[in-house]
Amino acid sequence: MTVDLHDFVATVEDYPEPGVSFRDISPLMGDGAAYKQAVDAIADFAKDLNVDLIAGPESRGFIVGSPLAYAMNIGFVPARKGGKLPREAVSASYTLEYGGINELEIHKDAIRPGQRVLIVDDLLATGGTINATREIIEKLGGVVAGVAFIIELESLQGREKIMKAGEVPFLALMEY
Ligand code: PRP
Ligand code: ADE
Repeated sequence: MTVDLHDFVATVEDYPEPGVSFRDISPLMGDGAAYKQAVDAIADFAKDLNVDLIAGPESRGFIVGSPLAYAMNIGFVPARKGGKLPREAVSASYTLEYGGINELEIHKDAIRPGQRVLIVDDLLATGGTINATREIIEKLGGVVAGVAFIIELESLQGREKIMKAGEVPFLALMEY
């Protein structure tokens, strides 16, 4: 039996700032069947992409990427917010739908040249987070095998921004 994942998204208006409709996936994560269905759907999308590693941006990308990597029996690479990694790292900066400029970093030895990396996150808004993650992966010589999200906010045109940086296989389980 499948569930309708839309039933597990809580919308909060004007959070964290006026004008933003915040799509909260906490109910989805809190329900075993919905969480498994979402992760399994991304694993199904990934099965033909020849993926070596999953990468996810801090912090909600970890919630999607870690169980996916476990299910696929491959490694997970965290893209952490600036200043948190203890060893040599490569970074990229980006701007968010809210909250200004941010920086993401990945350890330099986390990806070997030629490795195929699937980037995942809970939600695609403007695409800044994903393009920064992609920039780092490509600086390290990795190949972006695809991108996958639980939610895409269509009006913010993040998908177009991703494809401008180079066409890649794309999955969003829900669109708002
Ligand atoms: C949110 C979300 C995505 C990003 C999407 O993360 O989880 O990573 O924003 O926005 P974009 O497409 O405009 O870049 P946030 O930076 O709020 O951090 P969090 O996961 O720690 O809450
Ligand atoms: N990250 C960026 N925009 C968001 C939104 N509208 N809802 C939840 N997370 C977000």
